[in-house]
Amino acid sequence: MSTTTLAFALCLLCAAISLALPLNSPLLQAYDYIVVGGGTAGLTVANRLSEDPSVNILVLEAGPADHGEDFITVPGMIGNGIGTIYDWNLSTTAQTSMDGKPRDIPQGHGLGGGSLINGMLWSRGEIDDWENIAELGNPGWTWSQMLPYFERSERYWELASEELSATYSIETNTSVHGSVGPVNVSFSDWFWPTSQFLFSALNELGVPTAFDSNDGQIAGASYLPLSLDPIDASRSTARRAYYDSIAARPNLWVATEQYVTQILFDGSSANPNALVSTSDKVPSGGEGSSPGVPGGMFGQTIVSASDYVARRTRRSVPVLQKWWDGVKGLARRQNMAVGATTIRANGVVFAADAGSPREIVTATREVIIAAGAFHSPQLLLLSGIGPAAALQTLKIPVNIDLPGVGSNLHDHGQVWAWYPYNDSAIVTPMDFITNSSFSANAWTDYQGNRTGPLTSTAYDGVAFPALAFISNGSTAITDAASTQTATQYLANNTDGSVGLGFAQQLRMLTQALSDPTRAAYEIINGNDGALTVANMRPLSRGSVVLASPQPFDPPPINPRYGSNPIDAQVLLAALRFNQQLIATDSLSQLDPTQMFPPPAASDDEILQYIAASMQTEYHPAGTCAMMPLALGGVVSPDLLVYGTENLRVVDSSTIPMLPAAHLQAVVLLTFYDSTLGRGYHTRSKQRKPSDVVSVYVVFAPAYHDRGLAIR
Ligand SMILES: *[C@@H]1O[C@H](CO)[C@@H](O)[C@H](O)[C@H]1NC(C)=O
Ligand SMILES: *[C@@H]1O[C@H](CO)[C@@H](O)[C@H](O)[C@H]1NC(C)=O
Ligand SMILES: *[C@@H]1O[C@H](CO)[C@@H](O)[C@H](O)[C@H]1NC(C)=O
Ligand SMILES: *[C@@H]1O[C@H](CO)[C@@H](O)[C@H](O)[C@H]1NC(C)=O
Ligand SMILES: *[C@@H]1O[C@H](CO)[C@@H](O)[C@H](O)[C@H]1NC(C)=O
Ligand SMILES: *[C@@H]1O[C@H](CO)[C@@H](O)[C@H](O)[C@H]1NC(C)=O
Ligand SMILES: *[C@@H]1O[C@H](CO)[C@@H](O)[C@H](O)[C@H]1NC(C)=O
Ligand SMILES: *[C@@H]1O[C@H](CO)[C@@H](O)[C@H](O)[C@H]1NC(C)=O
Repeated sequence: MSTTTLAFALCLLCAAISLALPLNSPLLQAYDYIVVGGGTAGLTVANRLSEDPSVNILVLEAGPADHGEDFITVPGMIGNGIGTIYDWNLSTTAQTSMDGKPRDIPQGHGLGGGSLINGMLWSRGEIDDWENIAELGNPGWTWSQMLPYFERSERYWELASEELSATYSIETNTSVHGSVGPVNVSFSDWFWPTSQFLFSALNELGVPTAFDSNDGQIAGASYLPLSLDPIDASRSTARRAYYDSIAARPNLWVATEQYVTQILFDGSSANPNALVSTSDKVPSGGEGSSPGVPGGMFGQTIVSASDYVARRTRRSVPVLQKWWDGVKGLARRQNMAVGATTIRANGVVFAADAGSPREIVTATREVIIAAGAFHSPQLLLLSGIGPAAALQTLKIPVNIDLPGVGSNLHDHGQVWAWYPYNDSAIVTPMDFITNSSFSANAWTDYQGNRTGPLTSTAYDGVAFPALAFISNGSTAITDAASTQTATQYLANNTDGSVGLGFAQQLRMLTQALSDPTRAAYEIINGNDGALTVANMRPLSRGSVVLASPQPFDPPPINPRYGSNPIDAQVLLAALRFNQQLIATDSLSQLDPTQMFPPPAASDDEILQYIAASMQTEYHPAGTCAMMPLALGGVVSPDLLVYGTENLRVVDSSTIPMLPAAHLQAVVLLTFYDSTLGRGYHTRSKQRKPSDVVSVYVVFAPAYHDRGLAIR
């Protein structure tokens, strides 16, 4: 190599280094795109947008960047991230159709969102789930149209050992997997022993095996792959997959521990509460304050959040003041219903905590909300987009009267059931707690050579039975569902359009429950005798609203678990079927004991057990539904918020009706397709063909039990 070439190469290297932007670099005053939420959806969008070097992107994430803590990286520790700084620690309102108690509902709070704390299970749902989503008014969202995006997300690793593949009924359907995507999707070489017995038991009772649970035909028993790096046996988070790999891009800014309080629009009114700090006082510390972030896991220089805010504040407060003075002079457009006119988002207001000064940053092209099923609708409401009457009650100026915002909340409700095995020779995840040498050996193996039980999670085998498999020919449940009227079990204040949207969903849900080839519920094997059951076709619908116009007040979340009685009836049938399962030749070898629900319980007693136990399966969705406006929808099939020209929502809140899947791998596509000429460039100004945004979006946390405190 000549000296000149060497100098040139060094020069390029220097340029690359000097251009790279560490996490929390000082911000510009304007970006082409602002992404609200650096979780699974937001980081994916930011990654794809920043492929174009001519545009600048800012991601604002409320939570911190992780430090590679064991409870994040070690698969065997799933569940231990819940209730930490990486969790929003939200709870629901009192669940009056159940036992009247609220439920915890974890949500990822950190760079990577739910993928930091979820259960790592990787599945996509059924072919017909996506046909249904398309039928709900969303052309472009069928299974075959989504498949290329499912594939591009994955680097799928087949189980290397043929013997293990045969023993555990895992066969790869090569036509549905990707091999060069960012997320490692794989199986651990370590299997807990009990799923094999469960699968035989299911087969004995007529439930088949689904050999590859990601090919859209899932109504059977399957080992689900994990978001797992199989070489170092660590969690493949959205941060690792979509941010660390491109952190050096000079056009991507990522700021952590920054809460967006409001979206701003050209010529429209603002919510004053979301614009000014609640106090001029320095916050007293604790929740809501921003401790410095000492250092990064992957070598970035992480500036302490307080330095960061101090620096920014000096620059931005005059701008904010000027902007606010301008807004005050504008005539407020109260009660703007969605019509021919659209409004244009031009920036966001954010702050480190409730007491910190608000800052403003401008978006010249788009604002993209990826804050999850609770915080995305919350942010729309705070910004004056939602049901006009509710906004007016809180004295929030109405920018767009959009009744669907926050409604249609649903989740896979799950009920834990426990049949502990008396056979002490069976190794179970309980051994981490009851057997100290088992636990010590597991850590030695994991740390020494990345082998052993900590390389996998407690939940490996699952099944997605059809109702027909378990009901002995009875159609009582589906008959009851088909006689319901759409509004019968919706909350009384539900908007008419939302009721019409649910009518469409109810028809599809009833059909799915009646179809012998489609999943009705899920059985999740905890390998310790737990056979948790979860509704895959929940009929209950709830809402997220605002308690106040203050952005730092958590939004009241009411999933209304069990408000539609069909959901509990399906789980009653599922728990009865569990009893048959433990009595099979196969599972009875493990000597299971019926503990919960209690033995010999009547149907009423089991329903009471369900009422006391039903909780989230960590899959909240639907609150900014992608559906036509007349059906209570909030975003169009290209994920634009109705009535806006450049505001999108791209996360699980847009899923109109949940697929039978763990949401992390569920792939959404925000599109720009220059050949079809739809989406992006047909709607927004300043668009260039290079604005390709083919996005896979990973949704909310999927994790199955607060479970075991390992170690
Ligand atoms: C959630 O609770 C934990 C434990 O109390 C706390 O450390 C963490 O900061 C909380 N998360 C948030 C976002 O406040
Ligand atoms: C693989 O998946 C596709 C799509 O679901 C399906 O059509 C095909 O039958 C599957 N192949 C096998 C061998 O199961
Ligand atoms: C995927 O696995 C490969 C091989 O171990 C590793 O180099 C890469 O960092 C992993 N990526 C993620 C996102 O886990
Ligand atoms: C568990 O097994 C032991 C020994 O085989 C037996 O004595 C005991 O009755 C069993 N307990 C239950 C609850 O089945
Ligand atoms: C505890 O674990 C060790 C190591 O796996 C095993 O050899 C031993 O049999 C276990 N003890 C019991 C009581 O299960
Ligand atoms: C991993 O390490 C343990 C001891 O720490 C050893 O018993 C085991 O054989 C090793 N496994 C492999 C695959 O090297
Ligand atoms: C189905 O029929 C079998 C055999 O008659 C019976 O043991 C089982 O309890 C029935 N299951 C349900 C869910 O009714
Ligand atoms: C709606 O109101 C009617 C009449 O007050 C009441 O009977 C019904 O239970 C209410 N429905 C719900 C879901 O709250």
